[in-house]
Amino acid sequence: MEATTFVLFGATGDLARRKIYPALYNLFLDRKLSHSFSVVGLGRRELGDEAFQAMVEKSIRDFSRREVNPSASVRSFLKAFQYNVLEVGNAEDYLKLLQRVEQLEAGKGSTPNRMFYLSVGPEFFEPIALNIKESGLGAAKGWKRLVIEKPFGHDLPSAQKLNLKLSEAFSEEEIYRIDHYLGKPMVQELDVFQQTNPVLHALWNNRYIANVQITAAETVGVEERAGYYDHVGALRDMFQNHMLQLLMMLAIRLPKDSSADEVRFKKKEVMESLEPLEEGNIGSEVIRGQYTAGVIKGKPVPGYLAEPGIPAGSVNDTFIAARLQIDDPFWKGVPFYIRTGKRMKEKSTRIVIEFKEPLKQVSSAEGEDIPNLLVFEISPNEGITLQLKARDPQHKGKFKAMHIDFHTSSIEIPEAYENLIHDALRGDPSFFAHWNEVELSWKWVQPILNAFAENTVPLHTYAAGSHGPAESDQLLARDGHHWWLDAAGEADEEAGEVAMRDAANF
Ligand code: BG6
Repeated sequence: MEATTFVLFGATGDLARRKIYPALYNLFLDRKLSHSFSVVGLGRRELGDEAFQAMVEKSIRDFSRREVNPSASVRSFLKAFQYNVLEVGNAEDYLKLLQRVEQLEAGKGSTPNRMFYLSVGPEFFEPIALNIKESGLGAAKGWKRLVIEKPFGHDLPSAQKLNLKLSEAFSEEEIYRIDHYLGKPMVQELDVFQQTNPVLHALWNNRYIANVQITAAETVGVEERAGYYDHVGALRDMFQNHMLQLLMMLAIRLPKDSSADEVRFKKKEVMESLEPLEEGNIGSEVIRGQYTAGVIKGKPVPGYLAEPGIPAGSVNDTFIAARLQIDDPFWKGVPFYIRTGKRMKEKSTRIVIEFKEPLKQVSSAEGEDIPNLLVFEISPNEGITLQLKARDPQHKGKFKAMHIDFHTSSIEIPEAYENLIHDALRGDPSFFAHWNEVELSWKWVQPILNAFAENTVPLHTYAAGSHGPAESDQLLARDGHHWWLDAAGEADEEAGEVAMRDAANF
């Protein structure tokens, strides 16, 4: 690890406290930070270095996955943290920052590098990047990198404009666009599984796969983010970025030991092969939903329109499901069903692959229709389950589901932000969104955004605590499929009798 100054914009913010400091602390414990690593935290608030270090200490005590013991090692971790006041639009503040960074670098032996991390609202991305350039901060002796949080644009034109502005200060190779789903350990394994396991590699195509189901369900509502969320909805907040990234990671086919460039090239190819939606078929391929009052884990919760800060009559989407098709030789004919929503029955991000049964007999044997499924549980639990059909030894003539399971305990596993910050420090962009992917995602999503804005797609409702609107089940039912299971392996009552019978066996 090389000498690096980590310049953090938004150092007193929620993301920094919940994710970034705990991630740095765990990297420090794992000896993945260089000895010459320092952090300059920036914010509008007046704060001395000591008060800043106390804030960082509290944040790691509250949020680190590993316990923080009072020890010399915590003190030596905190020593790396310094604080500067900075008003985003004030050029003077950048010059003061430059002085501070240069002082820090003067004490370091090797060529110093600079990593600029933008944990701030999107309206600040452009002015910060341009001020970094103007002030000379961008003229690092070693490398310089820009790590930038989502949202990257509000639609296609704004994303293109932002990218153009950023490229005045940083090259594409220097920009690390965070999509924290790409940092989730199970997501980082998806390509490896099919590359390195010949069994999966051989089956990863339309000859053997009937459909792919990608779900990111949340139990939380809009929380305190009404102002933000009512302008973005599930389509911009989750679908354009996280969900399409999951699709790309699952659908790419890579040679063993591929480079970051190959990964990104293949992801771009997947996006280019995604069949575009036309104005006329958005209504049939996309389901828009909004939650009404309901019960989650035994507690009544209000509907979206009754949440604080949501304007009366809002038609914002809190749920979206869509049916996507990839037009390439591997995936043609395999529907990818994607759904994501707030206030759903459970918190679960998972991918279910349902295999075809080419030799299926029409028979009335009980359990005959149990499918062969491969389930990737991404979060909050992490695991893989393979469901196979087996003869029931106790009841000849019947079949039952057999499961091969692998689950990990979360405390041992690095969090998404640890993986991503470590990769950015090492200069490995494999799990960051390249501009090509971001632009192609916006291009694919733009007709849906237009249809939502023009209100030409129905807004369905669903009760909080359910699996989303009934119409999202119909999206699959017309292909003869249904959503498989929730994370607890419970029957999905809304998905019909067959699902209930099969799910009960799962
Ligand atoms: C964020 C969205 O990107 O992802 C939030 O802005 C959402 O609305 C969150 O709650 C979900 O992340 P995770 O890791 O909890 O699934």
